[in-house]
Amino acid sequence: MRWGGQGEAGRTAAAALLALASAGLSACVDKADQPRPVAQGDPARGLAVIEAVGCAACHTIPGVAWPEGRSGGDLAGFGARPFIAGRLPNQPGVLTRWLIDAPSLDPGTAMPPMPLNQAQARDVAAYLYTLDDD
Ligand code: HEC
Repeated sequence: MRWGGQGEAGRTAAAALLALASAGLSACVDKADQPRPVAQGDPARGLAVIEAVGCAACHTIPGVAWPEGRSGGDLAGFGARPFIAGRLPNQPGVLTRWLIDAPSLDPGTAMPPMPLNQAQARDVAAYLYTLDDD
């Protein structure tokens, strides 16, 4: 009798887990085009890094009042763009590498290597992914 009861509870729990798992999967599919959170990245720290290293000398960046550089393009809406510089997949790992050393991904790019360590690049990427509307 007790076993039967526990089995019932176990089946219910398993069904609930399955339901959760499939809900999670469809949520992933739905979010494929949405901004990607960067594991361990802190957007607030990222903004501070952006200001410290001077990205805005070349880019107009929402949240940075001055300067509003033009040579690198406007980063408004960057979080919702599918590509970095129109040709690399806009994914956290690619973006952090781009931020540290863009020419290693594309020798022809005019974006210079930036003096960021991994953690700083993750923070900057996390901030850029908050810029999801134009
Ligand atoms: C000396 C100017 C310069 C500086 C400084 C600079 N960038 Fe760039 N950046 C560029 C240029 C030019 C491009 C376009 C590259 C291309 O299309 O090959 C670019 C491209 C990008 C892109 C891709 C934009 C898109 O629309 O896909 C991102 C994101 C980016 N930069 C972020 C940053 C961040 C963050 C910093 C500071 C850590 C920074 N950049 C510093 C010049 C610069």
